[in-house]
Amino acid sequence: MEKVKLIQLPKILDPRGNLSFFENNNQIPFEIKRSYWIYDVPGGETRGSHAFKKSEIFIVALSGSFDVILNDGIREFKYSLNRSYYGLYIPNLIWKRIENFSTNSLALIVSSIQYDENDYIRKFNEFKKMRNET
Ligand code: TYD
Repeated sequence: MEKVKLIQLPKILDPRGNLSFFENNNQIPFEIKRSYWIYDVPGGETRGSHAFKKSEIFIVALSGSFDVILNDGIREFKYSLNRSYYGLYIPNLIWKRIENFSTNSLALIVSSIQYDENDYIRKFNEFKKMRNET
């Protein structure tokens, strides 16, 4: 799938507890304008079913696990995130949904833009149409 990338983050092993990190335009290929997180997800729920016109995002399973299902308008791909030292980079114009959250899972998402409802594509048909035009 074009440009989507599973990125391994630095992992500083320490008997006192491990540490990982990412920086703007370094481990991740954009400048962070916003961070948000999804937590307390009841079993069986799905979040984030949409695409973005412009924003790029990076998702890390800081705790627990979940699946990120991506669609580029033609094919569907599943990424299971379950380590706090891996993250998934998703460029704009990729449809996604996040599901199969484990108990107590915590999804950190950083975005290249501030919150803007106009950047959302919330209808899959609209997304398909937009993909076909680009
Ligand atoms: P949304 O991204 O639509 O999540 P989902 O697709 O899983 O429903 O976010 C839900 C609501 O939260 C949205 O209607 C507005 C609010 N929100 C913000 O105010 N700022 C943010 O950065 C995000 C991500 C959401």
